[in-house]
Amino acid sequence: VIPYGRQSISEEDIEGVVAVLRSDFITQGPAIERFETAVAEYCGVEHAVAVCNGTAALHAACLALGLEPGKKLWTSPITFVASANAGRYCGADIDFVDIDPATYNMSVEALREKLRAEGPPDVLVPVHFAGASCDMAEIAELSEKHGFAVLEDASHAIGASYQDEPVGSCRYSNAATFSFHPVKIITTGEGGMAVTNDAELANRCRMLRTHGITRDPDRMQAEPEGPWYYEQQQLGYNFRMTDIQAALGASQMQRIDEFVARRNELAERYKALLAGLPVSWQHVHTDTRSAYHLFVIELAEETPPRAEVFAALRESGVGANVHYIPVHLQPYYRALGFEPGDFPNAEAYYERAITLPLYPAMADEDLETVVSALREALGA
Ligand SMILES: Cc1ncc(COP(=O)(O)O)c(C=O)c1O
Repeated sequence: VIPYGRQSISEEDIEGVVAVLRSDFITQGPAIERFETAVAEYCGVEHAVAVCNGTAALHAACLALGLEPGKKLWTSPITFVASANAGRYCGADIDFVDIDPATYNMSVEALREKLRAEGPPDVLVPVHFAGASCDMAEIAELSEKHGFAVLEDASHAIGASYQDEPVGSCRYSNAATFSFHPVKIITTGEGGMAVTNDAELANRCRMLRTHGITRDPDRMQAEPEGPWYYEQQQLGYNFRMTDIQAALGASQMQRIDEFVARRNELAERYKALLAGLPVSWQHVHTDTRSAYHLFVIELAEETPPRAEVFAALRESGVGANVHYIPVHLQPYYRALGFEPGDFPNAEAYYERAITLPLYPAMADEDLETVVSALREALGA
């Protein structure tokens, strides 16, 4: 089976991990800072806080942005549930902004209308779907005008760029988060990171990562009683990443450009081979370079039903997938009052979407196998 995504692990990555296993620190050691620095430098952002997964990065960033009961988070319905759940963990109310049918990202037009009708949320979470940046300049303009915080869910998009700057530079946002799950652009097994240019926000994330504890004498409320002294000043969590994971992440960062280049090459190859078939794919704006975490196609009206095409692909050994079931249609969110029909573009997209395999180690022949299987499934 050709999987829809998978990690690329080199001998160097393995050596990096083994070196940590042989060292004094397998957690809370120097590899964390090494990884954080590598990501911060790559993204051109001042602060980076490594955590145990992308969901924890979103959760910590939401709390650090002051999200709490009575406050509101808006995100895209076409995302993994984590983008919305992070707000729920803080007790906030969730709502969604429908997608643009061409880019599959949050529609700026829909956002503008919703702001006009309802006033602002407290935190907006645009999701750079499949690795292509949202229109951040427009979103930043609206955030300034209406006064809401912007947290980029860049789980798919480390290595992408927008207006010639790396995604994660936070030029147009308060913070951004990454996920390092094995199917993502770089991996740490499980892992995530919050990045920001706001020192206070970074410090809050850092404290939330370790139970709300500070060991910095300058930040303490009481006189330190000795070198052992630490203060828990708020209720935080254990969101720590291990040094074993961070060593893998730091090593993977050395190949991030190679990974993204190969993903782009494969995506272009897909587009060439799919030309003429009754399918379309994500429109990526000219000022955006996608990291191509995913390659998603949308079936045209006249094709066999998606379930049939999907089953035929799986039968041919193609590990197709679907990203995503609109979050508002999940039973948990339905119970909060959302209904079919609430976000029609997201729902129409979902009905016809299929994710095709894409990962750096995928061979050109694998890609041809996928397209042949698709052609057959479509009866084309
Ligand atoms: C858009 C999006 N946000 C958040 C997450 C959560 O990341 P993690 O699985 O590392 O917790 C994911 C990962 O699947 C994702 O795709």
